[in-house]
Amino acid sequence: MMTLAEARTLMESWTQAEHLRRHMRAVEVAMGHYARFFGEEETSWRIVGLLHDMDYERHPSPEEHPYVAVAYLRSLGVPEPWLEAILGHADYTGVARRSRMARALYAVDEMTGFVLACAYVRPRGLEDLEPRSVIKKMKDRAFAAAVNRDDLRRGAEELGLPLEEHIGHVITALRDEADYLGLERKG
Ligand SMILES: [Fe+2]
Ligand SMILES: [Fe+2]
Repeated sequence: MMTLAEARTLMESWTQAEHLRRHMRAVEVAMGHYARFFGEEETSWRIVGLLHDMDYERHPSPEEHPYVAVAYLRSLGVPEPWLEAILGHADYTGVARRSRMARALYAVDEMTGFVLACAYVRPRGLEDLEPRSVIKKMKDRAFAAAVNRDDLRRGAEELGLPLEEHIGHVITALRDEADYLGLERKG
């Protein structure tokens, strides 16, 4: 079985861009948080979060991402449910998100980035960020315009949590591991 340290090394060997590494680490910590919350096995959830975009830098097209990663991970013996979750994070694969792991991955994939974007424009960053102000930013179409609001809402829905609660979990997760994520402490 792959260890978290091995997964980190693997991700970094496939991905040089710091913003992509940061994205995968953010998704990892959010998955770790949700694994604990749902009483699931934390390491596997973290690994899935960490590796879900490992092939994106080299193979960004929808023909290749995340299929290249999944084929490679399968050759390493990574369990099929993890691979199914990774496939499910991209809507265009058509792979259903049947497991809670898959639903959590989808729910945190875009939300981690959106929450970090909200924190970035605040003087105290994540420290005093409330779910309500994230929801407000979701209604501001000019803010982080590339993030699809419907995807954010659908993620929470599929996971079975009210949007505000889901956002609260993501904020807590990122705040708890701010050092690992290299987030500057402001103020
Ligand atoms: Fe992706
Ligand atoms: Fe992603």
